[in-house]
Amino acid sequence: MKKICVIEGDGIGKEVVPAAIKVLDEVGDFEYIYAEAGLECLKKYGDAIPDETIEKAKECDAVLFGAITSPKPTEYKGKYRSPILTLRKELNLYANVRPINDFKNIDLVIIRENTEDVYVGREYYDEEKEIAIAERVISKKGSERIIKFAFEYAINNNRKKVSCIHKANVLRITDGLFLRIFNEIGEKYKDKIDYDDYLVDATAMYLVKSPEMFDVIVTTNLFGDILSDEASALIGGLGLAPSANIGDEYGLFEPVHGSAPDIAGKGIANPIATILSAAMMLDYFGMKEKGNKIRNAVKRVLEKGKVTPDLGGNLKTSEVVDEIIKELRGY
Ligand code: NAI
Ligand code: MG
Repeated sequence: MKKICVIEGDGIGKEVVPAAIKVLDEVGDFEYIYAEAGLECLKKYGDAIPDETIEKAKECDAVLFGAITSPKPTEYKGKYRSPILTLRKELNLYANVRPINDFKNIDLVIIRENTEDVYVGREYYDEEKEIAIAERVISKKGSERIIKFAFEYAINNNRKKVSCIHKANVLRITDGLFLRIFNEIGEKYKDKIDYDDYLVDATAMYLVKSPEMFDVIVTTNLFGDILSDEASALIGGLGLAPSANIGDEYGLFEPVHGSAPDIAGKGIANPIATILSAAMMLDYFGMKEKGNKIRNAVKRVLEKGKVTPDLGGNLKTSEVVDEIIKELRGY
């Protein structure tokens, strides 16, 4: 039986994660190990992500993560470590996977490298020259593993094309390396799948004008961060956007949204982003049929307009879950 480490977190994390677990229990048998992280956890134990939580995550086959509230920088200076960044690092989750699917016309996936680029934290200020500098790190190894991951993901998910997004015309050395490795790996996969590449600025425009031209996108950390938020605006907002963080040994699945303090406790949070994240977890377990069953049930519930207020409906979180379960049971 697959073991799932469940981290509900704060705010609506405590509402949408139990909703997703109800749906998981409808399609299979799973063992849940509960662990704490987030602002409440920080207040209780003085640590937003205790070592015990990291150990539990490592004992399980995957992590299902809700959302956490970040403390105000003035409140917990120095003592705070971000749960999600800590888990990404501890579990070596180098691939961030964000499907962008409105269950109508738009269906693409953005795969973002999650460990390198300008996010390595090497920024400094040269007092003498009065220049602020950030280093951009793109390694051969890091590029190879994310690009291979993207091609394997594309094949395993019956996708037709992988597009590399870059700025190699200006960033000739860093993105030059990324693009060269992409083309080398693409050449090896060319019998199985198409590949092409676009500049990042053009891509920002194409995503709005003609998103159907993309299938699987693979890109570096900063571009992926920006493009994935842009793309999520195409599909009706945060309530529908799932994500996965995957490495060679572990996977963590979470909705893109945060703890939504403005609606927390009201029972009206949209559970679909978390339910679709749980479906991605089933794909990761090799239970693709179960994942598809959940996605089809969600699609039908959306078509029927049985949705929470963020999507213009008047259903509660629990009522959306009931509708999805009805669809899963076939009535
Ligand atoms: P947010 O995603 O929590 O909320 C933004 C807006 O979207 C709010 O109006 C909220 O009501 C709405 N919304 C989000 N998810 C929804 C859902 N499932 N159903 C219906 N409406 C939904 O982002 P915000 O307000 O910027 O951040 C709130 C807290 O969450 C902050 O402390 C932030 O640091 C944290 N956060 C945590 C993340 C994580 O745990 N991975 C990601 C993003 C933010
Ligand atoms: Mg972001």
